[in-house]
Amino acid sequence: MAAISARNLTILYNGEVALEGVTFELEEGETLLLLGPNGAGKTTLLKTIACFHREYKGEIQVFGREPCDARELVGYVPQSHSLNERVPLTALEVVAMGGIYKKGFFHFKISQQVLKKAEATLAFVGLSNVKDKLFRELSGGQKQRILLARALISDPRLLLLDEPLSALDPSARAEVSNVLGKIKRERGITMVITTHDINPLLEIGDKVMLINKRLIAFGKPEEVLRDNIIKSVYGPLARVIPVGGKLFCITGDVHLHGHGGGGR
Ligand SMILES: Nc1ncnc2c1ncn2[C@@H]1O[C@H](COP(=O)(O)OP(=O)(O)OP(=O)(O)O)[C@@H](O)[C@H]1O
Ligand SMILES: [Mg+2]
Repeated sequence: MAAISARNLTILYNGEVALEGVTFELEEGETLLLLGPNGAGKTTLLKTIACFHREYKGEIQVFGREPCDARELVGYVPQSHSLNERVPLTALEVVAMGGIYKKGFFHFKISQQVLKKAEATLAFVGLSNVKDKLFRELSGGQKQRILLARALISDPRLLLLDEPLSALDPSARAEVSNVLGKIKRERGITMVITTHDINPLLEIGDKVMLINKRLIAFGKPEEVLRDNIIKSVYGPLARVIPVGGKLFCITGDVHLHGHGGGGR
């Protein structure tokens, strides 16, 4: 059974089409890198898979079910995280929060069992040493790894990550992409990762999808990352360069004409 399968999926906001006619299948255990300029519909597609957004036509299934019937199988790490940093939570408490949210309800008491699991998950992302530090005092890379741990603690079969590397410096990017590689290798969790810069993630990508309000290309990295395909979305200066047997993709930071800005 496919982890995600979409057929002729069109996603709308108040009747207006945001992403049109998307068809693809992702097998369990595969990592999909979702690429596209600002306003292309990346977050919209993730939210639809996660059942946060429900206005769509066509078909979308997650492990053979409607997205809203598969919620307990799915972990979501949002683009700009929604934690209120004025609340003085420790790193461990933030991770544990992911373990007390089940089927749409918070159980406010954090049990010993959840705490133990939170500690093990912190160790998995390499952050046992900061467990008692306040979340808001951590570095950007550490925060992102804590948010990964928060999503991992409920043992999702599918993990959706919205721009997990954006706003990080190169060394923090490497920390976070290493953890993503470890999640894939050691846990075999299916992942969909949106990104503007595909290069740091190419090693773990089994499939690449390029969208721009509609599906431009979907397939193995070498099938999608071709000069003519990349140029069709990012313009004539974009290109794909083979470097030492690997591909390097230069897209620039292109903004769709008429789009009111990103940041969601
Ligand atoms: N809540 C909303 N209500 C109405 N329109 C929306 C809403 N969220 C997104 N859109 C529109 O849907 C389209 C796709 O937006 P989306 O946020 O999915 O793009 P994105 O690829 O994630 O962009 P970015 O790279 O900036 O994060 C855009 O035209 C956007 O204006
Ligand atoms: Mg987005």
